[in-house]
Amino acid sequence: MKTEKRIKVKDLLNSTAFGSEVTVKGWVRTFRNNQFIAINDGSTINNIQAVVDFSSMDETLLKRLTTGAAISVTGELIESLGKGQKVEVKVKQLEILGDSDAEKFPLQPKKHSLEFLREIAHLRFRTNTFNAVFKVRHALGYAIHKFFNDRGFVYLHTPIISASDAEGAGELFRVTTLDFNNPPRLENGEVDFKQDFFGKSTNLTVSGQLEAELAAMAFGEVYTFGPTFRAENSNTTRHLAEFWMIEPEVAFADLTDNMNLAEDLLKYVIKHALETCGDELEFLKNRLIEEEKLKPQDERSELDLLAKLNFCLNNDFERLTYTDAIEILKNSNANKKKKFKFLIDKWGVDLQSEHERYLVEKHFKKPVILTDYPKDIKAFYMRQNDDGTTVRAMDILFPGIGEIVGGSQREERLEQLENRMKEMNIPAQELYWYLDLRKFGTAPHAGFGLGFERLVLFVTGMTNIRDVIPFPRAPKTAEF
Ligand code: 4AD
Ligand code: MG
Repeated sequence: MKTEKRIKVKDLLNSTAFGSEVTVKGWVRTFRNNQFIAINDGSTINNIQAVVDFSSMDETLLKRLTTGAAISVTGELIESLGKGQKVEVKVKQLEILGDSDAEKFPLQPKKHSLEFLREIAHLRFRTNTFNAVFKVRHALGYAIHKFFNDRGFVYLHTPIISASDAEGAGELFRVTTLDFNNPPRLENGEVDFKQDFFGKSTNLTVSGQLEAELAAMAFGEVYTFGPTFRAENSNTTRHLAEFWMIEPEVAFADLTDNMNLAEDLLKYVIKHALETCGDELEFLKNRLIEEEKLKPQDERSELDLLAKLNFCLNNDFERLTYTDAIEILKNSNANKKKKFKFLIDKWGVDLQSEHERYLVEKHFKKPVILTDYPKDIKAFYMRQNDDGTTVRAMDILFPGIGEIVGGSQREERLEQLENRMKEMNIPAQELYWYLDLRKFGTAPHAGFGLGFERLVLFVTGMTNIRDVIPFPRAPKTAEF
């Protein structure tokens, strides 16, 4: 076993130490003309070329240089004469670490569809597209922590197993150790959750917000960044059953502060991706251009990926109320010519993704923040406005995505909160701790939830949310 120190491809490609001996370890992408090995080790989307002198190499060894094989190569770093790379390695020693049967390895050096790659998600990391997507995902995750850390927010880990339905939407995955073929029952026939592991009925969390509010009322500014779960049966390109959410919560903040924080966060993390993922975003930009060539002209993006990201950075998000948005939609040509699947006929209806995208992509042509929604289509905890019909909610809508952020100023007044919970059949005794906050030093506060995968979707220009999380969980999908 040789022990030469491995140099990462990323560092080698930037090196000018010509003549020195280097060792590269990685996976074979291609082997051409019995001479040129393209090696990728994941450190960059780019490959290093290693050149073998086949006349001096064992022929059986060369036969094992198949796509996907793991190899270790030691040789001299030389300036490359070939097109497309500045350096290459002149191979002195070659070791196959792990063979890859060319007949059976599903990833051949050709274009595979994203649908096919989803079926082999255990191997798709080894493609350029997914290398780029998950590098950008990483960069965004890092930038989110940096943004909040630099502003003095405390990172809070909220529970994954929960006894409450924070959104009151009822789309819960139950967590239980009871025998579901024969659970213990009460006399009235209902399942006796007193005998369950936690002594009560529990589920996977849909949001860390309620717990984040508790901590915000002590630390002032906190955020969560963790997995959340929703059993909504939506088979769309924007929904997952398991997704990651970022939820800041800020004391002494109102809805305007909340909008400013969200807009700053989004711009900061997009800027960070542009600054640190140049190669990846360039690749993804070109990927998208190729993908869109298959679409009719009028469905293609006006801006390429990089231009779109820069546009977002350089423009203020449009802010308007739900009521104003309804007027725009009602009077739009799309509504009059019945192009919407769901026509907008009256105030109070929930907006569908087609309406959100119309506002963003056709009307304002930039990100939009909608505020002050009807209380009946929003969660119980939102601050009620004096008009008695709307709440201090905000949704941020992004091009190609629709809703990327949902948040609000919170109802900090005990009486109003209790009344609203009663109206909406939210069990007050189970949420006594949430109500306690309004009894002991209550204060205005606000927060929001940013869907991490929707952010990654936007920044990478991918079109299906299942392609921006390593192992997607969706209806009938839980492989790997
Ligand atoms: O609008 P939502 O449901 O808001 C909340 O959960 C609040 N508790 C957040 C808060 O105020 N702290 O979800 C927030 C965001 C959405 O805007 C969307 O980006 C994302 O989470 N999201 C999903 N992403 C992927 N798949 C799903 N099924 C999603 N549901 C929501
Ligand atoms: Mg929402």
